[in-house]
Amino acid sequence: MPDNRPVGVFDSGVGGLTVLRTIHDRLPRESTIYVGDLRYFPYGPRRSEEVRRRACAIGRYLEHRGVKTIVVACNTATSAALDTLGQTLAVPVIGVVRPGAEEALRRSDRGIIGVVGTEGTVRSQAYAHALRALDPSVTVHQRACGRLVDLVEMGAAGSEEASSLIEGIVHDFVEDRRCDTIILGCTHFPLVKPVFEAVAGGRATIVDSASSTAHTTQSVLDHLGLVATDETPSHQFLVTGAADTFTEQARLLFGEHVDATEIAIQDQEPVAMSAQELLTG
Ligand code: DGL
Repeated sequence: MPDNRPVGVFDSGVGGLTVLRTIHDRLPRESTIYVGDLRYFPYGPRRSEEVRRRACAIGRYLEHRGVKTIVVACNTATSAALDTLGQTLAVPVIGVVRPGAEEALRRSDRGIIGVVGTEGTVRSQAYAHALRALDPSVTVHQRACGRLVDLVEMGAAGSEEASSLIEGIVHDFVEDRRCDTIILGCTHFPLVKPVFEAVAGGRATIVDSASSTAHTTQSVLDHLGLVATDETPSHQFLVTGAADTFTEQARLLFGEHVDATEIAIQDQEPVAMSAQELLTG
């Protein structure tokens, strides 16, 4: 029995379109509902409890909209909330961290892997935990680079500043720490993957989670008998901030025209901070 209910996908903003695009390519019969939580962008510098609260609100919203599965197309939200979402929602939830970690381990010879992501992703150690759970002998080095997210977001991916940040990251991982694989652990970084590859010059493999997440989504749908056969699938874009900003960002970053609709998604729980978060802010 085909299941033509949509797949829900969400991110803090426009970056998750890197994941959505690979889902559309791999699963062309699936309808999708994409939520960009623009009002709370960026997630990277926020406390993990706050990101978790937003992810749960969006997860519940998508579930009410009748999606059959949810893809958390954001590394920071996956790091902060995947477990909670899996425990609280009835539909299967897929994150980007594990597929990226699996892909990196497949590609790595020496088992020395660098991860670059937002502050929140790095602080959570989500990639380090996922990699070590899959292969306890792996060595993981991590770097946060929120500035590179900002530059890509503002359409300055080709700027000198972005190039010099990428050179610094690759130099640190490859020359100083002997990494043979670098995970781009942020939705925005596939947009600068060619620059990472050019700077690495074959000394390290650059892995991004977008395509491996689409592959995992396909496996989950196959496995659970949820595959759609829709000849004319629909794709909805919903944002919690200004819809024209999203449309402009999608045009700037992806060269795509996307019609977005503004919606409100309310939190339902107060933010509870852990003792550590109270100390570190
Ligand atoms: N989507 C976020 C991620 O993949 C990057 C942007 C943000 O900080 O919200 O981590």
